[in-house]
Amino acid sequence: MNLKIALLPGDGIGPEVINESVKVLDAVAEKFGLNFTYKTANVGAIAIDKTGNPLPEETLKLCADSDAILFGAIGDPKYDNDPNAKVRPEQGLLKLRKSLGLFANIRPLTTYDSLIHKSNIKEDVIKGTDFVIYRELTSGIYFGEKSLSEDGSSATDVCTYTVEEIDRITHLAFKAAQGRRKKLTLVDKANVLETSRLWRKQVTEIAKSYPEIALDFLFVDNAAMQIILEPTQFDVILTENMFGDILSDEASVISGSIGLLASASIGKHAALFEPIHGSYPQAKGKNIANPLAAILSAAMLLDHFNLKEEAACIRVAVEKSIELNISTPDLNPANNFSTAEVGEFVKNFVLDYEDSFYNRNNVDLGRSTII
Ligand code: IPM
Ligand code: MN
Repeated sequence: MNLKIALLPGDGIGPEVINESVKVLDAVAEKFGLNFTYKTANVGAIAIDKTGNPLPEETLKLCADSDAILFGAIGDPKYDNDPNAKVRPEQGLLKLRKSLGLFANIRPLTTYDSLIHKSNIKEDVIKGTDFVIYRELTSGIYFGEKSLSEDGSSATDVCTYTVEEIDRITHLAFKAAQGRRKKLTLVDKANVLETSRLWRKQVTEIAKSYPEIALDFLFVDNAAMQIILEPTQFDVILTENMFGDILSDEASVISGSIGLLASASIGKHAALFEPIHGSYPQAKGKNIANPLAAILSAAMLLDHFNLKEEAACIRVAVEKSIELNISTPDLNPANNFSTAEVGEFVKNFVLDYEDSFYNRNNVDLGRSTII
């Protein structure tokens, strides 16, 4: 199989973590006889610096001409605290999602046994957590009309959803539930919002075509609480754009580090894969960022093209690195490994599971002799 992959490393730690996921993809290509070709383009603050535009035309064209996109992160503090900035890095990502029609954002949340003691939440609460958030990504309040009154004394963000926008992601979420534990929870605010009531109506109707799936509903405020109180109750969570944004960051606390969470954004003709963490500007260039979310995003890319064994091979290697504590400071503050060392370990493990390229005794003591 040949795949043309567009690389959009973006800002902050984006380039460092994308580097590692490309290393791992190359190892997969070598091991399984696949052919991946890459082309890189600018997006976000770096694109603004170079061209004045957070999503230059040539970047969009490259994405449209590629089979898949591997995205790093965007954002720069120089824009965060400037409410008057006319162009922002985030506009690049939002425009990319909209232009490519990436309407479904899929954010899986699993726990690793060797990490559960590191979470801020009690072990017995999170043990066995395994759910996936289906977040609508190209509509809602993010993309509704926005305005600021002339005198600056009031502002508006409109939230709109059409039946078509609700239905297409709802079908994907039900299909995902069929392959999982057959439960779907719609998260909304139907006691207050008209858009939420439309979601409930549509989802209830569509559920009739998936009789084997147990459907329930939660208001978003309650859902925020339940995710922390009893996360094992969830299988597939379906929700609109902004609720999904907030709940997925909240849920990341369960896994022990946001540096572990991957995502896929899927449309009819395009697919983008990105770690859910941001650009972490404080860590930029320091070789300390956790590359596993970006590496796991590459695994989701392979899954998307039905390369299941290849994706599983990456996941096994990632789990091994976590189990052996070959981890960056977010997971291993005392005796950590660099971004590149973690990527190197995963790459080598993909290339040869059995190979003893590291000395297990040393690893058990906390450091490996990675070559
Ligand atoms: C995310 C991010 C983006 C979002 C920002 C960078 C626009 O937080 O992918 O979750 O809010 O969707
Ligand atoms: Mn977010």
